[in-house]
Amino acid sequence: MESTSGPGHLRLCINIDHVATIRQARHADEPDPAAAAVACEAAGADGITAHLREDRRHIQDADVDAILRVIRTPFNLEMAVTDEMLAIAERLRPHQVTLVPERREEVTTEGGLDVTHDAARMRAALARLDAAGIRTSLFIDPDPRMIDQAAALGAAAIELHTGRYAHASADPATLAALRDGARRARAAGLAVHAGHGLTVRNVGPVAAITEIEELNIGHTIVSRAVFVGIEAAVREMERALSRAR
Ligand code: PXP
Repeated sequence: MESTSGPGHLRLCINIDHVATIRQARHADEPDPAAAAVACEAAGADGITAHLREDRRHIQDADVDAILRVIRTPFNLEMAVTDEMLAIAERLRPHQVTLVPERREEVTTEGGLDVTHDAARMRAALARLDAAGIRTSLFIDPDPRMIDQAAALGAAAIELHTGRYAHASADPATLAALRDGARRARAAGLAVHAGHGLTVRNVGPVAAITEIEELNIGHTIVSRAVFVGIEAAVREMERALSRAR
């Protein structure tokens, strides 16, 4: 997703998966993730993200279709590197695909994608997405080996996994790893995104890393939405980002 308002702009993309989680808890028809996406945009979100998991535990195929019909900002589809998902991406042609690791038993995405493993499969997946005109991003840990390999594979962007930083109560070593990783990736010509476990309380130091141009934030927005509504939750996050930049 290209910058919309100059070099310093940090895009806030809202992951609406957990709107679907609430709906799936009852197999009901509310709340509607597509309606949530439109509300996020109304509150100023720069993009919408959703993870179509292989087990369809939250977002369903029909949700992705509906989101693409109603949103005006770029859509970032998170997905595993499988033939099924690549075929879906080729059909839907989202603005961007972020490739993520996926294990059925995990509660959420627990670590970054190991892009050093099975390079031929990774390269083939990126080639299919490129051929479909889809911008590519790889969700990886801030590990120099992963960053260098992401650049060698020719991805447009990486998304740095901020989970370790978030779960370690924002300790300085995990922040330094993100800062170094962002710098290394930028120097290698990669666009830098970040996400996972970010909240208004811990996002500031990450948002202050100037190489980062996009954040993907989900769980905390839906959590806050229960109390203040989703538009207010998005605005709270926007204020936290503007305090950091
Ligand atoms: N980025 C990626 C690649 C993810 O898999 C997730 C979680 O689905 C997020 C960002 C958002 O994380 P959170 O819901 O903790 O904000």
